[in-house]
Amino acid sequence: MEMKTLCVVLLVLLAVPCVAADLTGNWAVRDPLPDGTSRNTYLDLHQEGSQITGTIRSGQFYYRIVESAGGPDGFTLTGSMTDGANERHVKYEGKLVGDELHLLTRRRPDSELIEMVAHRAPAGEGAYPSRRPLPELHKVSANGLAKTPPMGWNSWNKFAGRVDDAAVRAMADRMSANGMKEAGYEYVNIDDTWQAGRDAQGNITTNKKFPDMKALADYVHGKHLKIGIYSSPGPNTCAGYEGSFGHEEQDARTYAAWGIDYLKYDWCGARNIYTDQEMRAVYQIMGEALLKTGRPILFSLCQYGRAEVWKWGPDVGGNSWRTTGDIRDTWDSMTSIGFAQDELAPWAGPGHWNDPDMLEVGNGGMSEDEYRTHMSLWSILAAPLLAGNDLRNMTPATLEILTNREVIAINQDPAGQQGRRVSKEGDQEIWTRPLSDGGLAIGVFNRSATPARIILKWSDLGRKSPPARARDLWAHSDVNLDGGEYAVMVPAHGVAMLRVAK
Ligand code: GLA
Repeated sequence: MEMKTLCVVLLVLLAVPCVAADLTGNWAVRDPLPDGTSRNTYLDLHQEGSQITGTIRSGQFYYRIVESAGGPDGFTLTGSMTDGANERHVKYEGKLVGDELHLLTRRRPDSELIEMVAHRAPAGEGAYPSRRPLPELHKVSANGLAKTPPMGWNSWNKFAGRVDDAAVRAMADRMSANGMKEAGYEYVNIDDTWQAGRDAQGNITTNKKFPDMKALADYVHGKHLKIGIYSSPGPNTCAGYEGSFGHEEQDARTYAAWGIDYLKYDWCGARNIYTDQEMRAVYQIMGEALLKTGRPILFSLCQYGRAEVWKWGPDVGGNSWRTTGDIRDTWDSMTSIGFAQDELAPWAGPGHWNDPDMLEVGNGGMSEDEYRTHMSLWSILAAPLLAGNDLRNMTPATLEILTNREVIAINQDPAGQQGRRVSKEGDQEIWTRPLSDGGLAIGVFNRSATPARIILKWSDLGRKSPPARARDLWAHSDVNLDGGEYAVMVPAHGVAMLRVAK
């Protein structure tokens, strides 16, 4: 063998194990989903000796590697990210097998270990976009919508990622036929997981579950209802789908062209790029973009009540803003959110509402009394009433709770004044909401697990004598009042709700 050939052979023999045994590179775990999209995780690794640095991008999360040990034969990595006040970590164990990275990780620290296989991806694929300049703050003109709290349905609580075109049509069918529409429910809202990606011109595209968004909007409009959609100011939504980052105006135009009437805009992926202090400017971009389309599109802010959003929500064109993290279908979740809203009352009013998250009524995790408490409290709070159950198969009791016109009239009272707690004694709370006719809505809540006789003293409400008329809004009957107090038996976790005249 010639010397030159021998050198080449030796080089190849030496170089192959040397290259293959290096973890450096961009690695992708591709996880195809039935909707035609895929949920990719990218590990962009740089190995120097026994140290591995780099980043991990997974759905809405973007971590910097802060700790590592080992090498190609077996390594561990810890990624860290900060999200406002919270620090979040992810850990991977792995080893190089041929040209694959075999990985073990957990979605959450307490969840099961999952195995994944990563392959080499082109450099730059999945790279996190860098921040874009933010606009100067100014006041976005009000869009004139949501003079009373928005009412409708949203897919997330019941369907999460399983929402599709057929489900949305079915909800519109039901809502227009089962009395909900007449009771005031208007918006049929698609939450996360409708997106595919972007076309060559950067237009947002829908995934297999939503073959034609314009046709779907036409269908919903044909039922004399309105349709809502969901996005994020970040590159990814909470479920890891395409967000509006850098495409805000283009997306707003697309929504308008489809005939969209409502946008829920969820911070999620934006946390990897901007700070909480920058939220207002970030939300202003979309508020402005929606206004520019010329189509009335209700703007629903979702950033979990951070950065005192109630103080600037209306200034970015917001019609509502979430005040808390996600609700769950449990008594504890619902009450810890609902009964914590008292101090936010001054910030709500016609056109702009505190949003303690969507309704769980009918989803099965609470009793009927508990759902009546949920509906009553949300009405006193002037909260958006977005049903979150499957409208195709609800019990008569669920429908009756959702369509109680007398309770809804409290929620929709045109004065738009949010109610407040007037007393709390142990598990008994009394809340009131002043109404446009000079009357008052009164919620008598029993948060204990046993029935209670609760006494409402008119003097506690600043009245010398009982009101001339009072109505029990769940019994649908007038209440006879005399004397200085009203005593009522309230079921465990239940409510008595009254409307009293001036
Ligand atoms: C966040 C929101 C939820 C829902 C999901 C969708 O958690 O708070 O209401 O929109 O994202 O991924």
